[in-house]
Amino acid sequence: MEKKMEDIVSFAKRRGFVYPGSEIYGGEPGLYDFGPYGVELLNNIKKSWWRTNVQLKENYVGLDSAMFKDPKVWVASGHVGGFADPLSECKQCHTRVRVDKELEKIGVHADEKMSKEELNELWTANNQKIKCPTCGATDWTEAKMFNLLVKSNLGDFEEKGDAPVYLPGEACQGIYLNYKNIVDTCRVKVPFGVAQIGKAFRNEISPRNFLFRCREFEQADTELFIRPHENKGSYEQMKKERMEWWVSLGIAPENLRFKQHEHLVFYANDAWDIEYNFPSYGFDEVEGIHDRTDYDLTQHMEHSGVDLNYVDQAAGEKYVPWILETSMGMGRCFLAVLSEAYTVEKMEDGAERTVLKLPEELAPVKYAVFPLLKNKPELVEKAREVYKKLSQRYMCEFDDNGNIGKRYRRQDEIGTPKCVVVDFDTLEDGTVTVRDRDTTEQVRVKIDEL
Ligand code: GAP
Repeated sequence: MEKKMEDIVSFAKRRGFVYPGSEIYGGEPGLYDFGPYGVELLNNIKKSWWRTNVQLKENYVGLDSAMFKDPKVWVASGHVGGFADPLSECKQCHTRVRVDKELEKIGVHADEKMSKEELNELWTANNQKIKCPTCGATDWTEAKMFNLLVKSNLGDFEEKGDAPVYLPGEACQGIYLNYKNIVDTCRVKVPFGVAQIGKAFRNEISPRNFLFRCREFEQADTELFIRPHENKGSYEQMKKERMEWWVSLGIAPENLRFKQHEHLVFYANDAWDIEYNFPSYGFDEVEGIHDRTDYDLTQHMEHSGVDLNYVDQAAGEKYVPWILETSMGMGRCFLAVLSEAYTVEKMEDGAERTVLKLPEELAPVKYAVFPLLKNKPELVEKAREVYKKLSQRYMCEFDDNGNIGKRYRRQDEIGTPKCVVVDFDTLEDGTVTVRDRDTTEQVRVKIDEL
């Protein structure tokens, strides 16, 4: 059966995975909340990512940096000056559109390096061919640059005459700010990496496609500090490892692909995306792998006045390391995993069932425990005992509501790999029925062997 994103979006809400942000106030575009099953899945993806990128890598360490940073950080990083989208507004209904994206749709390329005047000329020459997506008019304002950083206020930064404080436009800046601390305190030697999962905020003009383009999201980043010009081999290795991780999430290799950037953002020397084939949307970016050269550390060295050179005593060398980055949108990864696992299938008896075919490691609930009958206190008591025992090690759920078939369906929908049923034989011989999510086969197992 063909998967449709609209079905996945409504499933995600109906089964407590993702709720629209501030919904009782009408909802806010580009903001979402992860519900009880969603947070479990999200945390399991994070655990898998952390294990792969920190625990299993001898030369990588983890970090969790503060979101608020000195305002100068975002000037040094180039975001205050260059992190902007060109916008135009429909004069009839005030809908805003991204000028470069709209031009792209009619086959006109707006180069990143164009001046504001050049871009506006291109827009004016072509915008009669572009219809407003809301009202259909072709009456547009001039193209204006719109900075994506989200402003906030904190303490007295503004009173001191500094730039306003910003929420992080990208999570990785915290890693650059702590590079020296880590070198000084952690016995790391180039090449070494730092991994972090952190929030990012962007004033996206048109948040769209559910979790795909949000205004608040999480990024899982690794930054590998290397000797200058030693980027080639490590970069290829990095691309290979990242793709392997995506496949380890249960995603079919044919639904993943690499795409090299033709137009590089201001800090990159080379950039590749991993793309996932989303239902309804098609292939789109889920992770960026960037060769950032010495751009970041050089900028922070100049703006902070602190020497960020790396000193290799043994080799008698001193240099500003280059950085190879992997940056994954956690929400996009969540959406890819959910989309891949979401399956509607016909059963042997002709009935349909929805099942999340998640790898066991990612399933929000690992075991669901049921007493066969709700009105038999001895079965309920025994089932609670089994539930308590398994909960010591696994995320479990207890369910005594409705017939067994309905309880199985509820667990299939949220991807629970095993359902454990306590019946009258359990009271006699200490065995339970264990039913498998994918095959629906049932086996008899001793409680102690679960
Ligand atoms: N530090 C590098 C960086 O921020 P990016 O390509 O702008 O690079 C990295 O972002 C990843 O973050 C993207 O591949 C995407 O998965 C995710 N991402 C970016 N903007 C997003 C948004 N508005 N909503 C959700 N995820 C986003």
